[in-house]
Amino acid sequence: MTSDSILPATTRWYADRTLAARPSEVRKVFRAAQKPGIISFANGAPYLGQLPFAQLAADAARLMETQGTAALQYGASQGIPELRAHIVELMKLEGISAGPEQVIVTNGSQQALDVCARTLVNPGDVIFAEAPSYAGGMAVFTGYEAEIVHVDMDADGLIPEDLERKIAEVKAAGKTAKGLYTIPNFQNPGGVNLSAERRRAVGELCRGQDLLIFEDNPYGLLGFDGRTMPAIQPEFADITLYFGSFSKMIAPGLRLGWVLPPQAMYSVLLNTAETSTLNPSVFSQQLLTAYLDDPAWQETLAKYRGIYEEKFTTLVDALTEAMPEGTSWNRPTGGFYLWVTLPEGVDAEALVHEAIDHGVVYVPGTAFYTDGQGSNEMRLSFCLPPLEDIRKGAALLGTLFREAAAGR
Ligand SMILES: Cc1ncc(COP(=O)(O)O)c(C=O)c1O
Repeated sequence: MTSDSILPATTRWYADRTLAARPSEVRKVFRAAQKPGIISFANGAPYLGQLPFAQLAADAARLMETQGTAALQYGASQGIPELRAHIVELMKLEGISAGPEQVIVTNGSQQALDVCARTLVNPGDVIFAEAPSYAGGMAVFTGYEAEIVHVDMDADGLIPEDLERKIAEVKAAGKTAKGLYTIPNFQNPGGVNLSAERRRAVGELCRGQDLLIFEDNPYGLLGFDGRTMPAIQPEFADITLYFGSFSKMIAPGLRLGWVLPPQAMYSVLLNTAETSTLNPSVFSQQLLTAYLDDPAWQETLAKYRGIYEEKFTTLVDALTEAMPEGTSWNRPTGGFYLWVTLPEGVDAEALVHEAIDHGVVYVPGTAFYTDGQGSNEMRLSFCLPPLEDIRKGAALLGTLFREAAAGR
């Protein structure tokens, strides 16, 4: 047990799977970064400054006065029908046709992932995930003792040929290849989109090899130009669990997301969801429904897209000036994240505490792999800091990494 562990020294009460879990790098960084005044490129937290708080306050007051006993009561475990009707409309934007009765509302998509992993994953099952992938998603699967096997990515997302090769290796080793966990739009942390051809190729491959697809899509409506991409789910509805979230496009404090599972799995998953939380907060769902009932929410979202694009451009311009030669990054067309590769030999994990001392924090690349890759990579979230902080933070990173690159 290291001093960095999230577990206290006395461990005899903990389940084996808890002891086996790797302490989250992201959480370690967040804890170390909780100093006032620090510029954080670490959080995937949305900017909330444009939300119509007065309208939300009025809606909340009205709901309490007119529907208070329902709002504060237990509710249906699959969520309220009015919100599920909105969810169905949202999913249409990505070519998904489903009925409200096929959707399960959850406390964020994180809980949806947990419910599905808990229902479907046996210890030792292999889940394939992009290299790199969302640490919190992988942690759910490893929490149920799955093994993560990474699949290489390029500018068009995960590479189907590599997935095919890895599936064959896993099967040859006598392991169960259970599913693919993919974030096809504005991937966290890579910022990459899975191309349309590859969506089909990956779907065919998973179907042919008897794998489930966990399609996690919290960022799909956050393309800078507002364009959406067709989901994997429509052509592969029998094997796909599609996850959506209101956290990034509206507000994570509502804690609302959803899963659209293959129809045959619905009642089993609903049973798990019910065991897990009984039901998502009715009040939260009602408040969100009121927000979505007014079409103006789409204009607010459009404003956010513009804000995020400006933050992204500011970050890239500032990094271009500040970072040492040999640093590279991709150019995401939406979402919250920039994936940065540092010059060979510069260790982002080793330097993160020095960065915090200088007043800036990022997440080291190693947090997004389960196999030790990523030491000269990092994720910069541009969603939350104001423009001025983005410029200052990039300059601080530039100084730190220039010194590190020079001292190699
Ligand atoms: C890819 C991805 N999936 C799921 C989540 C969880 O989101 P929430 O539980 O707030 O819906 C996040 C949050 O960062 C994410 O980036």
